[in-house]
Amino acid sequence: MLLVLLLFVLIFSPLHAASARDTISPGETLGGSDVIVSSNGKYALGFFKIGSESSGNTSNYWYLGIWINRVPTMTTVWVANEDAPIADLTTAVLTISLDGNLVVLNHVSKSIIWTTQVNVTTNNTVATLSDGGNLILQKSLDLTDVLWQSFDHPTNSLLPGAKLGRDKVTGLNRRLVSRKNWVDQAPGAYSLELDPTGAAQFILVELNSGVTYWSSGVWNGRFFNSIPDMGAYSEFVNNSREVYLTTPFQDVTMVMHLSLEVSGQLKAYVWYEQLQDWVTSAVQPKSQCDVYAICGPYTICNDNVIPSCNCMKGFSIKSLKDWELGDRTGGCIRNKPLDYCSNNKATGSRDGFYNIPCFRLPQNAQSTTVIASEGECAQACLSNCSCTAYSFGDYGCYVWHDELLNVKQQQYSDLTSTKVEFLKVRLAAKELNSWENHRREMLVWVVTSATVALFGLVLLLIIWRNRKIQYFRKFNGVQGGNGIVAFRYIDLKHATKSFSIKLGSGGFGSVYKGFLADSTAIAVKMLDGFRQGEKQFRAEVSSIGIIHHVNLVKLIGFCCEGNKRLLVYEYLPYHSLDVHLFQRSVTFLNWKTRYQVALGVARGLAYLHESCRECIIHCDIKPQNILLDASFTPKIADFGMAKFMQRDSSRALTTMRGTIGYLAPEWLSGVAITTKIDVYSYGMVLLEIISGRRNTSEQCTSCADNDVYFPLQVANNLLKGDVQVLVDPKLCGDFSLEEVERVCKIACWCIQDKDSDRPAMGEVVQFLDGLREVDVPPLPKILQAVAGSPPLLNNM
Ligand SMILES: *[C@@H]1O[C@H](CO)[C@@H](O)[C@H](O)[C@H]1NC(C)=O
Ligand SMILES: *[C@@H]1O[C@H](CO)[C@@H](O)[C@H](O)[C@H]1NC(C)=O
Ligand SMILES: *[C@@H]1O[C@H](CO)[C@@H](O)[C@H](O)[C@H]1NC(C)=O
Ligand SMILES: *[C@@H]1O[C@H](CO)[C@@H](O)[C@H](O)[C@H]1NC(C)=O
Ligand SMILES: *[C@@H]1O[C@H](CO)[C@@H](O)[C@H](O)[C@H]1NC(C)=O
Repeated sequence: MLLVLLLFVLIFSPLHAASARDTISPGETLGGSDVIVSSNGKYALGFFKIGSESSGNTSNYWYLGIWINRVPTMTTVWVANEDAPIADLTTAVLTISLDGNLVVLNHVSKSIIWTTQVNVTTNNTVATLSDGGNLILQKSLDLTDVLWQSFDHPTNSLLPGAKLGRDKVTGLNRRLVSRKNWVDQAPGAYSLELDPTGAAQFILVELNSGVTYWSSGVWNGRFFNSIPDMGAYSEFVNNSREVYLTTPFQDVTMVMHLSLEVSGQLKAYVWYEQLQDWVTSAVQPKSQCDVYAICGPYTICNDNVIPSCNCMKGFSIKSLKDWELGDRTGGCIRNKPLDYCSNNKATGSRDGFYNIPCFRLPQNAQSTTVIASEGECAQACLSNCSCTAYSFGDYGCYVWHDELLNVKQQQYSDLTSTKVEFLKVRLAAKELNSWENHRREMLVWVVTSATVALFGLVLLLIIWRNRKIQYFRKFNGVQGGNGIVAFRYIDLKHATKSFSIKLGSGGFGSVYKGFLADSTAIAVKMLDGFRQGEKQFRAEVSSIGIIHHVNLVKLIGFCCEGNKRLLVYEYLPYHSLDVHLFQRSVTFLNWKTRYQVALGVARGLAYLHESCRECIIHCDIKPQNILLDASFTPKIADFGMAKFMQRDSSRALTTMRGTIGYLAPEWLSGVAITTKIDVYSYGMVLLEIISGRRNTSEQCTSCADNDVYFPLQVANNLLKGDVQVLVDPKLCGDFSLEEVERVCKIACWCIQDKDSDRPAMGEVVQFLDGLREVDVPPLPKILQAVAGSPPLLNNM
């Protein structure tokens, strides 16, 4: 009896009822810290303020909005009063007004702060926060008719199930707009919207200029052409009523959202339960400097440093406060105004120019072709007050007027392909003179100190010579042993002739060729950006520093001095696999070599996964990271993203890493990873080895229907039993059909959706060695999803 009573109290206690509230009805108000929670507990609506008092990111204003209640990190997905923040929360309430609209009222001044602004014929309405995170206003007697919903007025986030695009009947255009900065929720400079020209694609636009700086590529019925990897996660619908993009519900337990960031980049986030953190599963555009005008005028954008925006010399940050809150679009302003234009022309001294080499030139140049010399070009710029820069080259004379936007630090990889350009930025003579004076002072200082130092130098030289001899002795001793060497920076500088022979560059830095004292050829990798490089440096030294295998690149030593981080490897003369597979100019790999490469990489990976003391997951297997030696033995390189795992555990938690196009689907679903993510990437590489072309081509903007996503083509042809057509035509039919078929089957097994369906690398080695037979694999579902969105949705 008592028990029944207790149960009754538990079930019907007012506390229980209060926590389940997901609606607001006429007469009810919401204020202060009150919240409405969706019935599944996933989303909440209430007043919020950005940031905590302790961080520098605090806003003094309050907003009404929806956030993800399931996660402990405050993540807002919608804001009501974006333009009208509330200074004093005690004066504000959310309620249903007499005209039936949902409103935020200032109950002291009786003014309306925000309203849903719809024509309702009845005051009897109710607002509900749905399980999908949509705030819906309906007539309480007729719940079928939606009067207003937050999904129709998105701010900067898109939740699964919400639509982005146009309602053809009402003309409503749903788009995402970035926020002003990290705390101010006012609309910012960038938007994601349906292409207004009518093409079936989405574009990112800088709103002040109207410039489109990224597009998704046209929807081809299965995926947007520029982002084939995302095919399974987006759906494009064009029917008689609407044309829109949506993210279908994947799994109700999964927490995710798409957000247009203050940085102008579109990011997809997945909540990692075990990590208790958001993981970025996709970013577009990939590099920050590709966002139009992200750094504002008179800045230089560099993707390799953090922060990526910096003022040009002679300019200073316009608003430090905005800058610190993530909004750099205000850019920089001149330290000293231009003389020629601010002063009387007769008395003012002439302006000068400052030379910036190696940069992507700003947009909107005016070309003046009749000018034949650099002097005339400079004069043309000086004679017009609005001219701010010029550039002279084979292309003639370019001049720029007013603000200089989008100047970009050229990457090393660009340098090898394009010529260095020079941008001459106009500066006041006073500004240039002040540098000159400074330089003169420096010179005087240098000369005096040099005289003093000369005596000491002679002494130092003697000591240094002795040490150098000692050092090389020590090094030669180590060479025979197994350990790795800690180099001094100065010695690596000598070994590489001051880093003069560049072999290549990647996301983390550049690689230079050099020779040790015993004339061993080495490749020295210099890591960029102190903090970014540090993590990679440690991962690399602690992984390949301790292991040795014929199919793994050998680390000879490292240097760690001040903020310098360098890695020294054995030198491999034959480029990486991608160069051999995708570029015409270099040596061509015949089928036998390709098969050996596939086998070698499999052996290297099997060793990493199964034979080392600690299991190592490479996390970034792709052709660029497979180097070939003189006898075309493949060697896996670049362990900067490697993840260690104890032998006794089978799964590891880590933030997402790797390269798009080779990423296993479990990265996106937020579960812990296993060695099978390397198996997936390896499968993708195998396919590229077979076909001699990239699986996904970013440039593909007008893909024909027969230009099907290659991995899918392989899976389909395997089922049909016709793999011959998949092989690189450059082989001219010179290959073993049996081997090709085996490799295709293995690749297809490696890219199965479920990691447990994929073979271990040790098994792959056995398959390739011909020790075990390979069955015909099933078609991976993700590929199917990319290929086969229901035909109903396409052209209705
Ligand atoms: C709705 O309006 C009617 C008449 O206009 C009024 O009598 C009634 O009190 C209103 N109801 C609410 C809940 O405000
Ligand atoms: C402010 O917030 C942004 C994004 O939420 C974050 O990247 C930045 O580090 C924060 N800054 C401080 C000082 O907390
Ligand atoms: C509401 O109705 C009035 C009068 O019928 C009309 O003038 C107004 O444009 C309507 N507003 C909206 C938002 O539909
Ligand atoms: C949607 O379909 C209509 C009719 O088939 C077509 O005219 C229009 O261009 C399509 N719009 C987009 C964005 O694909
Ligand atoms: C300076 O150049 C701008 C842009 O070409 C032009 O509109 C303006 O008339 C020029 N001013 C003078 C004084 O030539």
